[in-house]
Amino acid sequence: MKGVVLAGGKGSRLYPLTRVTNKHLLPVYDRPMVFYPIQTLVDADIRDVIIVTGGQNSGDFLRLLSNGKDFNLHRIHYTYQEGEGGIADALRLAEPFVEGEKICVILGDNIIENNIIASKQAFEKQSAGAHIILKEVPDAGRFGCPEISDGRILGIEEKPKSPKSSYAVTGLYFYDATVFEKIGRTKPSSRNELEITDVNNMYLQERTLTHSILDGWWTDAGTFESLQRATNMVSETGANKIPGRGKPPQHSRNSE
Ligand code: DAU
Repeated sequence: MKGVVLAGGKGSRLYPLTRVTNKHLLPVYDRPMVFYPIQTLVDADIRDVIIVTGGQNSGDFLRLLSNGKDFNLHRIHYTYQEGEGGIADALRLAEPFVEGEKICVILGDNIIENNIIASKQAFEKQSAGAHIILKEVPDAGRFGCPEISDGRILGIEEKPKSPKSSYAVTGLYFYDATVFEKIGRTKPSSRNELEITDVNNMYLQERTLTHSILDGWWTDAGTFESLQRATNMVSETGANKIPGRGKPPQHSRNSE
C-alpha cells in the first residue's frame, strides 16, 4: 500500500503565520507539522510516500525531508498542486505514483495519538472500495460529518450547520484505485473546491465504504485553536517522545 500526504492549500485560517511559509512546516511542539502524518504512515508500515504540496515555499519540503531517510522511507516523491482546488484536486496529482495500488491518504494537518494499523488491516481485507476513520468530537459541524444508523453510514455532509451525529470524518482515508475516476466526476463545491466528502459519498452509493473509529486523541491543526491543541496534546502525552510512536507490525521490525 502506498501513502499520500496532502500538504497543499493556502492555510489562510492561520494568516499571518502562513504568509511566509507553508502551514505544514509550522512547528507543532518540537517538530514541523508534516512530520506527524508521515510518521503515522510509517507506523502503519507504509513506506512508499508522495507529498503533494503547493505555494511559494514548496522547495522547503525537499530541504526538510530530502530523500526520506530520517523516516526510513523506501521512496519519497513530491508533486506540486497549482492553486488551492481542494483535497480531491490535490489527491488526483498522486495518480501516476499510485500505479493502480491501494492507497492511504492523510491530510498534512492531521495528528493522532496512536496508530492506524487496525484500520489498515480492515481495509486490506476489502477487495475494493474505501475505508474512512471517524472520531467523536464536540464540534462535528467543523468537519465532514456522517449520519449513522445501526452502525451504518447513511450519508456524509461537509461542515453541516446541524450535524447529524457527533462524529467527524478524520483526514485519514483508504482508497482503491477507482478513487481517481471518482474525483474526475466531482464538481467544485460552493467554496470552489473538489471535496473529498463528495468522493466518499460516491463510494457510499456503491456500498463499498466501510469505517472504523479511531482510538486515542485526534486533532487537525489548521486553525489557531486546533494548532494550539495539537501542540498541547503532543507535549502533554509525551507521544512525540517515543520513537516510532505506534507499534509497527512484527514483520516490519524483522525486516529492518
Ligand atoms: O481534518 C479533517 C477534515 O479535513 C475533514 O473532516 C473534512 O471533511 C475535510 O474537508 C477537511 O476539512 P478542512 O476544511 O479542515 O480542510 P482544509 O481546507 O483545512 O485542508 C486540510 C488539508 O488538506 C490541508 O492541511 C492540506 C490539504 N489540502 C487542502 C486544500 C484545500 C491540499 O493539499 N490542497 C488543497 O487545495
